[in-house]
Amino acid sequence: MTTDEIAQVAVIGAGLMGHGIAQEFASAGYRVYLHDVTNEYLEIALIQIEQNLNVLASNAIIQEESISHTLRRIQTSTEIEIVAENADFVVEAVTENLALKQQIFGKLDTICPTHTILASNTTALMPSQIGVNAKRKNQILNTHYFNPPYLIPLVELIRSPDTSDETVEVTFELLKTIGKTPAIIEKEALGFVGPRLQAALIREAFAIVEQGIASAETVDLVVRNSFGRRLSVAGPFEVFELAGWDLVLAAFEELYKDLNSSSDINPLLQQMVESGKLGVKSKEGFYSWTDEKIQQLRERMNRALIRQAKDV
Ligand SMILES: NC(=O)c1ccc[n+]([C@@H]2O[C@H](COP(=O)([O-])OP(=O)(O)OC[C@H]3O[C@@H](n4cnc5c(N)ncnc54)[C@H](O)[C@@H]3O)[C@@H](O)[C@H]2O)c1
Repeated sequence: MTTDEIAQVAVIGAGLMGHGIAQEFASAGYRVYLHDVTNEYLEIALIQIEQNLNVLASNAIIQEESISHTLRRIQTSTEIEIVAENADFVVEAVTENLALKQQIFGKLDTICPTHTILASNTTALMPSQIGVNAKRKNQILNTHYFNPPYLIPLVELIRSPDTSDETVEVTFELLKTIGKTPAIIEKEALGFVGPRLQAALIREAFAIVEQGIASAETVDLVVRNSFGRRLSVAGPFEVFELAGWDLVLAAFEELYKDLNSSSDINPLLQQMVESGKLGVKSKEGFYSWTDEKIQQLRERMNRALIRQAKDV
């Protein structure tokens, strides 16, 4: 199959990520079928897509007139058979649960046409694990979007040892066609690149708070107003090439011995989850959240991401 032959895309799971991924394909002109377990979830997904498109239009990123066309390209169904039977490309974005994803990939393998590529948006699992029940292992890979998918350009494309070059090439071209920036991750590993780096950062951030070095508020203040600013314009290797690896070596020799390298979950994280301090979900985490504060944070993040999207 070539990228030009892809006309219909199915998205399985219409939650936070699934609705945004469906929006991206529909905005680029593809017919999209969106699937979830209840009609209520699907209705909410359509409302969210319309809201996202309105935000993009009010910021002159898309044209107002395109919104109704995009919405018309999206159909929904709670029947996975209807959604997948004519799909050329499928993105799975259901809850992060290996057994569930394996079951869905097994099902998709029997429903979809033989040429169809099956992609998972998993945050950390490997495509060889997810595709274990499917026969078409050469046509399975991960396409890992970042939240919100309509504002963050990068998609990690992770191949398993069985994924064919053709599958990688077609998917790479497809992602470019819909305006994303695909990055091919050559060797599958849990968490790929983005989530691995984020996990390393948050592990050390927890250690800093747990050891009383600084509060969570201070950690956020430091990151946002220092290297966080640089990271959106230059990657870590670019940044440190400017500094020089000799300086990096000298600075890190002692420091590395003091960093957290435990493979255990930090007791503070464990404790927070056990006591129901989940963050905005339970309105309590390192911060106390009200609806107004949650809205303010989301708007602050979206404003900055929209500014960056306009710069491109
Ligand atoms: N949230 C993020 O920032 C983020 C970023 C990148 C990747 N991901 C990954 O994307 C996937 C989805 O995450 P999310 O944040 O959108 O979760 P979510 O909970 O918002 O959405 C998951 C959706 O899957 C649906 N679902 C559950 N079982 C299903 C089934 N059997 N058939 C069809 N739909 C089913 C749920 O009803 C829900 O609407 C996960 O694998 C997650 O790890 C999440």
